[in-house]
Amino acid sequence: MDRYAVFGNPIEHSKSPLIHSLFAEQTQQAIEYGRQQPANDRFNEAIHAFFAEGYTGANVTSPFKLDAFRFADELTPRAKAAEAVNTLYKRPDGTVLGDNTDGEGLVRDLQRLWGGLDGKRILLIGAGGATRGVILPLLTAKAHSVHIANRTAAKAHALADKFDMGNKVTGSGFKDLPAMDFDGVINCTSSSLNGDLPEISSDIFANAVFAYDMTYKAQQTSFMCWAQEHNSAIKVGDGLGMLVGQAAESFYLWRNVRPKIEPVIQAVRELL
Ligand code: ATR
Repeated sequence: MDRYAVFGNPIEHSKSPLIHSLFAEQTQQAIEYGRQQPANDRFNEAIHAFFAEGYTGANVTSPFKLDAFRFADELTPRAKAAEAVNTLYKRPDGTVLGDNTDGEGLVRDLQRLWGGLDGKRILLIGAGGATRGVILPLLTAKAHSVHIANRTAAKAHALADKFDMGNKVTGSGFKDLPAMDFDGVINCTSSSLNGDLPEISSDIFANAVFAYDMTYKAQQTSFMCWAQEHNSAIKVGDGLGMLVGQAAESFYLWRNVRPKIEPVIQAVRELL
C-alpha cells in the first residue's frame, strides 16, 4: 500500500490526514496517510529517511515549504513561481518532484463557488508566501490582472517586480491603492485568525463580486463580515475550500485521480 504523510511543526491539528482519508474512501484508493513533525531544523534528515523508508509522497506545511523547495530534485513551474513546495512526489524513477498546489486549490475553489476568473481584476491583500503562491495560478486561470496591496508597501512592490509582468501584476501599500475597481478581493493575510482586519479602505469592496478569506473558522471570518457590511451584494467565502482544493491537487499528482472536493469540504466543516 502506498504511504504518504504531512510534514509540519506543529502538525497535531492538521486536517490533511482526514481530508486524504476521505479522498481515498471516495475514490476507492488504498493508501495510508500520516503525520510527521521534525524539529524545525531537521526537515532534511527527516525527509531523506522518509523516502528511504519507501514512502511515496508528502504534503509540506509551515515552516518547511522552503526546505521542501530546496530538497526537490525537480520543480513544477508553479512551485518555482511560488518559491515554495507543499507537495513532494517520489516518481517511479526515484527522483523527487516538488510541486505547489496551493494556488490551484484556491483557483478551483473560486471556480466552484463563483464560476470562471476570465477577465477578473483581482486584489490580493498581503505580500507573503501565501500571496506569492497564488499569483501565477490566478493569471493562468485567465484573471485580467492581479494587484498586490500590503501593509508594508515595499514588499508589495518587490513581489510585483519579481513577476515582471507589467500591468498584469502591480503592487502598492494600503494607502496608495490605484484608482481601479476590483472584481474580486482575496485576503492572503492571517489577520482574521485574531479577528483583526487589514487597515485598508473598505472602498475595495465597492464594485467587487466576491471577497475570499484564505483563513477559515467555524463562523464567518471578520474579513467576510466586513466585506458584507460595505457591499450587501458581495459573495463571500473562506479558505476551507482552498485547503481541501490544494489537497485534491496533491492527491491527483500522486494517484492520477481527481477527487470531488465539495463533499469533503462539507464533512470537514461539520467538524470545525
Ligand atoms: P504567509 O506565508 O502566510 O503569507 P508571511 O510570509 O509571514 O506569511 O506574510 C504575512 C503577510 O500578511 C505579510 O504581507 C504581512 O504584512 P507585512 O508585510 O506588512 O508584515 C501581512 N499581514 C499579517 N497580518 C496582518 C494584519 N493584521 N494586517 C495587515 N497585514 C497583515
